[in-house]
Amino acid sequence: MSKVKLNLIAAACENMGIGINGSLPWRLKNEMLYFTNMTTKVKDSTKINAVIMGRKTWDSIPTKYRPLNNRINIVLTRQVDTVKKDTPDDVIVLPGLDEAISYINGREDIESSWVIGGSFIYKAAMEHPNCDKIYLTEIQKNFECDTFFPTIDRQQFHLVDEEGVPKDRQKEGNIDYYFRVYKRL
Ligand SMILES: NC(=O)c1ccc[n+]([C@@H]2O[C@H](COP(=O)([O-])OP(=O)(O)OC[C@H]3O[C@@H](n4cnc5c(N)ncnc54)[C@H](OP(=O)(O)O)[C@@H]3O)[C@@H](O)[C@H]2O)c1
Repeated sequence: MSKVKLNLIAAACENMGIGINGSLPWRLKNEMLYFTNMTTKVKDSTKINAVIMGRKTWDSIPTKYRPLNNRINIVLTRQVDTVKKDTPDDVIVLPGLDEAISYINGREDIESSWVIGGSFIYKAAMEHPNCDKIYLTEIQKNFECDTFFPTIDRQQFHLVDEEGVPKDRQKEGNIDYYFRVYKRL
């Protein structure tokens, strides 16, 4: 078993929706800052984190914001050669999650690894033995969605408090949400 631990990070609304028409159903500036902070911050300043995403999530990031800065971007696709041609050279394009874990395992400079969506990649990561924590922003509202977060197995993953993650209710405009952390026990 490799030493790589996977963290998932997602924002979902009450019906567990995460996306619609290839983008996010909401605009939450501070939630986005939380995502950037959690996926970027490192304890060891000589290291960097990795973000692992499906090809459609890559496509959903506005061109000017990708690759996500100060992070190693790993994109999963069944069409590695085609996607490689369309992405900058510093983006790692791989055919699956196990290949991503092997890649990360082979690099000494990666501190933590974040699975950032979408549905399939979340499910595959959650079922993977290397999955450790799920950082889920729980939005207290329903939005129309066509993409959903997979069911969390509550026998395996338990709600925990984590230092640095605010426990109190967050509010942006008329949208309330909580930052939750589930850990595999
Ligand atoms: N709310 C959130 O936190 C959040 C986070 C991320 C994304 N989103 C939203 O979710 C939507 C995108 O997510 P999605 O679930 O539709 O797509 P996705 O998981 O990002 O990407 C799907 C693609 O991943 C590749 N893939 C799937 N299974 C694979 C496998 N077994 N091996 C290798 N590659 C595989 C395929 O790429 P190819 O077709 O190239 O082969 C597939 O088309 C957007 O609306 C986005 O805004 C929301």
